[in-house]
Amino acid sequence: MEIATSVLSIKQEQNYPIKQFYAIETAKTDYFHIDVMDGKFVEQDTTEKMAEYAQTIKQISNIPLDIHLMVEEVEKYVEEYIPLEPAYITMHYESFKDDQSRIEMIQKVREAGIKVGMAIKPDTKVEVLKPLLPMLHLVLVMTVEPGYGGQPFMYEMVAKIEQLSKEIETNNCDYFIEADGGINLETVEAVKEAGCDIAVVGTAIIQAENKKDIIAQLKK
Ligand code: DX5
Ligand code: ZN
Repeated sequence: MEIATSVLSIKQEQNYPIKQFYAIETAKTDYFHIDVMDGKFVEQDTTEKMAEYAQTIKQISNIPLDIHLMVEEVEKYVEEYIPLEPAYITMHYESFKDDQSRIEMIQKVREAGIKVGMAIKPDTKVEVLKPLLPMLHLVLVMTVEPGYGGQPFMYEMVAKIEQLSKEIETNNCDYFIEADGGINLETVEAVKEAGCDIAVVGTAIIQAENKKDIIAQLKK
């Protein structure tokens, strides 16, 4: 299982972020997870901070970016992040009014040569993704309500990961499954067992004394 380190909880004091980015890179994270929040889809607005962090990470590291868009105007932010050539751009199912507009945006990301993901909030069922699964490279199961780092893991979301795993077998799709929110050394086992391919971890890594050690333990 791979680890995507969420940089949401990194404070913006002077050159602190850069030191954190280097520490996370040296600790061998597989991705930097960029949490773009527009203050409408969720309460916080991190658009400026995340644009700055993504640019800086791009300049100092070759580790791929995993963009998580928690926004209403998806197209605006897809266009902002395509030039950074991230590994994934993931948009929320709940940001759109219908499947036609979801499909259009999925195509737009794919045509830019970037892998596309769709995220579902805790209250959104896996079933609604069925028609879209063949077009997706990634499905992001939120294991907390989007909007903040440091929230407790929602164990009832594990069933969704199991369901998506089965779906891959039955419909021979080839998307990866990513889980995001409240993942740490206590909760990582549950998502791994359920078939998660990429675990997003924020607080547990950002607050860790030894980032290399915790990432190694999370991947074990
Ligand atoms: C929450 C974000 C998550 C969060 C993860 O809306 O999408 O990526 O930053 O952070 P932790 O691991 O602290 O829950
Ligand atoms: Zn996220």
